[in-house]
Amino acid sequence: MASPLLLDGKGTAAQIREELKAANSQRRAAGQRPPLLAAVLVGNDGGSESYVAHKIKACVEVGFESRLLRFASNISQNELLSVVNGLNHDDQVDGFIVQLPLPPHIDAQVINLAIDPTKDVDGFHPVNVGRMALGLPTFLPATPSGICELLRRNGIVTSGMHAVILGRSAIVGAPLAQLLARPQEPGNCTVTLCHSRTQALKEHCLRADLLVAAMGKPGFVTADMVKPGAVVVDVGTTRVEDRHRQSGFVLRGDVAFDEVAPLCRAITPVPGGVGPMTIASLLTNTWQAATAS
Ligand code: GUN
Repeated sequence: MASPLLLDGKGTAAQIREELKAANSQRRAAGQRPPLLAAVLVGNDGGSESYVAHKIKACVEVGFESRLLRFASNISQNELLSVVNGLNHDDQVDGFIVQLPLPPHIDAQVINLAIDPTKDVDGFHPVNVGRMALGLPTFLPATPSGICELLRRNGIVTSGMHAVILGRSAIVGAPLAQLLARPQEPGNCTVTLCHSRTQALKEHCLRADLLVAAMGKPGFVTADMVKPGAVVVDVGTTRVEDRHRQSGFVLRGDVAFDEVAPLCRAITPVPGGVGPMTIASLLTNTWQAATAS
């Protein structure tokens, strides 16, 4: 088989940032302020720190304003609700996110429900989840919409494909299943959503034209699970200890890349695949929030 197309999320995200930067320059030339994204970070989880830092850096790159609101992990749920309420009513803030996971004493759904849906650039509020389900204009969750955009911009036509998604999380797997089933391109897929109770998982995977791995199990998808010519998207970014690195860890995807890639028509690398696209989609949503009506 010919060598696979590498779905370069890093390069594709850079292209999207260039487009947003140009649109933002025009907006500013017309006398309007840049979009502002606020990020709420609770505690010191290493992964969350890193994700939020990347989100803020991306804002700087496209000329958006950003605000980072940090709180100790012992902030109470009521205090965090007050923070959300403040952001809801702050006219300078176009959109904001509350980085997940939250400490166990805080109910993430209570916080999610308190976010003004018109500022919910994560697309997690039930109003926006419902709008997505109905195909109405809304903020699409960043990782699934980033995957769709990566496929679209790299010429992968999904219509008629059998898409198999591993992982049913509310952030990735469940919304991606909906987006890929939509009657449009990318979309028009027949979707199988697999999870921890799925039987005969390998057989499902072997029927996939588009296989998306989003379970957070490093190296789970091996060559014997992939149909030759499939398109493989790896959402996994697990930190695995690596004493040879200065950071002490390496990011590992859910796909055993070296053995799977030679079988594929196209595949995403980790890092540099889905991760940068997630952040580009968040910027797109922030732009949408700032320019709506
Ligand atoms: N934690 C992991 N992914 C995400 C995301 O897309 N948004 C938020 N708010 N938290 C996350």
